[in-house]
Amino acid sequence: MVKNVCCIGAGYVGGPSCAVIAYMCHDIKVTIVDLNQARIDAWNSDKLPIYEPGLDEIVFARRGKNLFFSTNVDQAIIDADLIFVSVNTPTKKTGMGAGMAADLAYIETATRRIAQVATTSKVVIEKSTVPCRTAQSMRTILEANSNKDIRFDILSNPEFLAEGTAVTDLMKPDRVLIGCLQTPDGFAAQQKLIDVYSNWIPRERIITMNLWSSELSKLAANALLAQRISSINALSAICEATGADVDEVAYACGTDSRIGPKFLKASVGFGGSCFQKDILNLVYLSEQLHLPEVAAYWKMVVTMNEYQKMRFTHRIVRTLFNTVTHKRIALLGFAFKKDTGDTRESAAITLCSYLIQEHARVAIYDPKVDAKQIRMDLTEPGVGTNEAEVDKHITICKSAYEACAGADALVICTEWDEFKMDQLDYQKIFASMQKPAFIFDGRLILDAPKLRDIGFRVETIGKSV
Ligand code: NAD
Ligand code: UDX
Repeated sequence: MVKNVCCIGAGYVGGPSCAVIAYMCHDIKVTIVDLNQARIDAWNSDKLPIYEPGLDEIVFARRGKNLFFSTNVDQAIIDADLIFVSVNTPTKKTGMGAGMAADLAYIETATRRIAQVATTSKVVIEKSTVPCRTAQSMRTILEANSNKDIRFDILSNPEFLAEGTAVTDLMKPDRVLIGCLQTPDGFAAQQKLIDVYSNWIPRERIITMNLWSSELSKLAANALLAQRISSINALSAICEATGADVDEVAYACGTDSRIGPKFLKASVGFGGSCFQKDILNLVYLSEQLHLPEVAAYWKMVVTMNEYQKMRFTHRIVRTLFNTVTHKRIALLGFAFKKDTGDTRESAAITLCSYLIQEHARVAIYDPKVDAKQIRMDLTEPGVGTNEAEVDKHITICKSAYEACAGADALVICTEWDEFKMDQLDYQKIFASMQKPAFIFDGRLILDAPKLRDIGFRVETIGKSV
C-alpha cells in the first residue's frame, strides 16, 4: 500500500495535482518539493503562488495534516514510495534543437537526484510532458544506480488539467492515463498508482497502455486541441472577408456529433505554456524521425497561431486610421485565458509589444496579473521591447474603468467574466473614452449590436463590420 508520495516540482501541475491526492487520500502523506524557496514559502503562506478556482480550499484543508511543501528534496525522496517528477520542460533556447526541442535538463537533474539519494525501492512517475521515449533515459539513469536491495520502476502519467479549471479537471478527469513497461514489475508498479487514483476516480476512467503510447498521447492530445483552435481561427479570417460569422460557423460544425462543440472558439490566438511548446516538441520529434511532411503539418498549427495574433493587431492599427502613435489603447486581460494569473505565451504579450513599437500608449488591466509580471513579460529577451520603452508606453491599471478612461480604443484580450456586458458598465466606459470610441473584441464575449447602439465602433474577431 502506498503511504508516502513525493512530488518534485511545485508548479502549476505538481502543486494542484498532488494537493488533490492529499485531499482525496487522507491516509497518504504527500510532500511537494521544489528548489525554489520563494515558491515553497508561498505554498506555505496564505497567498498561494498560483491562482486556481477552488485550490485554496483544498490546500488549506490538508496542509500540515497530510500535505506538506518543502525545499528538502532529498528527505522527501528518501521517505517516498511513489515519486512524481513534475518539473518544467520548456522549449530549448540554445544549442541542439533550439526553439523546438524540449529542454530535458530539469528532468534529468531530478532523476539523478532520486538515483543518488534513494535508500529504498521507488516507483518514479513521469508527470511532466516529455518527448516520446524520455522514460527510457530516466530508466537508464535509475537502473545504473539500482542494486539488489533497491529497484526503480518507471511509469508515465501525463497530466491533462487545463489552467483555470485545474481543480475540477483533477477531481473529475475525463481520464487518467498510465503507461508502464509491459512486464510483471511494470504492471505491479502501475497497480500501485491505480490504487491511489481509485480512491476517487472510477476504474473505467483510468486507462493503461505502454510507456511510449502514453508519452506520445500527451503530445498528441495537445496538438489535436491546438489544431482545432488554429482551424477555427483560419476560418475566422475567411469569415471577416466574406460576411460569414465565425460563431455561427462553429455552431453549425460543432453540432455534428463527429466534430463536437468544444474548442471551437475563435480568438486572438492560443497561449499558455503547453500548446506551442508541445507542438514544437512534436515537430522536432518528427524531424528527428526523418518525417519532414509530418513535421511541416504540425508546424502549421503554430504558424497559423502567430498569423492570427498579427492579423488581429494589424486590424487594430488599420481601423484606427493606420496610426496608433500616442493613442491610448486599453488592453483588458493579460493572462493567456480567464481564471488564471498565468501569462506564459499569452497573446497579450505579442499584441502589447507590437503596439509599443507602433508608439501607442497601452493601459493594461488584468484581475489576476500584477504589474511586476507584466513588466517582466514585456522585457523578456525576444519580445522586442526594452525597459525604457515599457516605462514610456505602458500603464498598469487597477480597474477596467481606469484603463479605458481617455482611451481611443478598448481591446479585449482575455475572456474574463468581469469584462462581459452584464458586468461592466459600457455606457460609462463610452462616456469616458475619446470619440470615435473603438472596441476590438478578440474573444467574442461582447454583444456588438448593443455596443453599436451605445455609440461604439466595434470590430470582432471572425466577423465583418
Ligand atoms: P512550472 O514551471 O510551473 O513548475 C515546475 C517546477 O519545477 C518549478 O517550480 C521548478 O523550480 C521546479 N523544479 C525544476 N527542477 C527541479 C528539481 N531538480 N528539483 C526540484 N524542483 C525542480 O511548470 P508546470 O506548468 O507545473 O509544468 C510542469 C510540467 O507539466 C511540464 O512538463 C508541462 O509541460 C507539464 N504540464 C503543464 C500543464 C499546465 O497547465 N501548466 C498541464 C499539463 C502538463
Ligand atoms: C492545455 C490543455 O487543454 C490541457 O489538457 C493540457 O494539460 C495543458 O494545455 P491550458 O493551456 O491550461 O491547457 O488551457 P486551454 O483551456 O487548453 O487553453 C489554451 C489556449 O487556447 C488559451 O489561450 C485559450 O484561450 C485558447 N482557446 C481555447 C481558444 O482560443 N479557443 C478555444 O476554443 C479554447
